[in-house]
Amino acid sequence: MSKVTVVGAGKYGSTTTQRIAEWDIVDEVVMTDIVEGLPQGLALDMNQSRPVLGYRTLVTGTNDYADTAESDVVVITAGLPRKPGMSRMDLLGVNAGIVTSVVEEIVRYSPNAVIIVVTNPLDQMTTLAADVSGFPRNRVLGQAGMLDSARFAHFISEAADHDVLDITAVTLGSHGETMVPVPSLCKVGDQPLLDALGEDTVAELVDRTRKGGGEIVAYLKTGSAYYAPSAAAASMVKAIVEDSGSQMPVCAWMEGEYGIDGVYLGVLARLGRNGVEEIVTVPLTTDEVDGLREAAVAVKEKVADLEDLDI
Ligand code: APR
Repeated sequence: MSKVTVVGAGKYGSTTTQRIAEWDIVDEVVMTDIVEGLPQGLALDMNQSRPVLGYRTLVTGTNDYADTAESDVVVITAGLPRKPGMSRMDLLGVNAGIVTSVVEEIVRYSPNAVIIVVTNPLDQMTTLAADVSGFPRNRVLGQAGMLDSARFAHFISEAADHDVLDITAVTLGSHGETMVPVPSLCKVGDQPLLDALGEDTVAELVDRTRKGGGEIVAYLKTGSAYYAPSAAAASMVKAIVEDSGSQMPVCAWMEGEYGIDGVYLGVLARLGRNGVEEIVTVPLTTDEVDGLREAAVAVKEKVADLEDLDI
């Protein structure tokens, strides 16, 4: 018996809702937005696909947080997406206001929920959600690493001309410039990535992955990516509601792992009913650990910008 709420019925929120519903893993997905009629119309449309696709999860569209009450997991997608030429930092002020107001409602109606943040800029929004909610930090996490790892896997698969489902790709750290690819954990089939493709090609793919969101924004012109992002967010929801303990890269609160403390950072974690059940530390090369520590410093600097905002 699980209930999931997705806040924001835009591209990211509606596709996340659709994926969770079609997997038939929860009783109800509530989708809410400030735009009247939008979540209701999308929900009605999705519900009518149930007899065709053969699933039972009910989608409820609403503008009223009372309908989200007692959710087990809440995914926050509400916010402005990045426009061409706009940096994640440009989004900070406007999305901080939105996330603050959303989290206050979640705390009121679903005090025991796990919160997954996807709104950009991700590291700051996840930190803000944790601060505003006052929830234990294991119950507030962000989605970034799964998406970056998936993008990296896709690029590796193309470059190596190898089955995408037989690629192991891991990125840690932050989203964007301070993403930390972990070549030592990446494989093409059974072959280490660097042996399969060589350093120069791997460096090109890492660069393309770092800029992966921007590449799609440049094509779309309005709006940002949502198919792969929603696949990543929905997988996190699945691991939590099924209490599966699945290991995946997520933006989680660090308490001394890799010598890093007091910051949200992309690391491997096991997810379950309590959100982040355990951060999984893996053997990394010295360069990779240095990259993680640099990312932690960069995130701490970005989080400090939140204090300058008048929310
Ligand atoms: N409460 C609920 N919904 C809100 C609020 C709010 N306070 N403010 C805005 N929204 C809704 C908008 O009405 C819109 O329907 O959030 C939705 C955002 O949808 P899109 O504009 O389609 O953006 P999307 O592509 O879904 O991206 C959402 O995810 O990847 C990030 O950077 C992206 O921060 C952005 C977020």
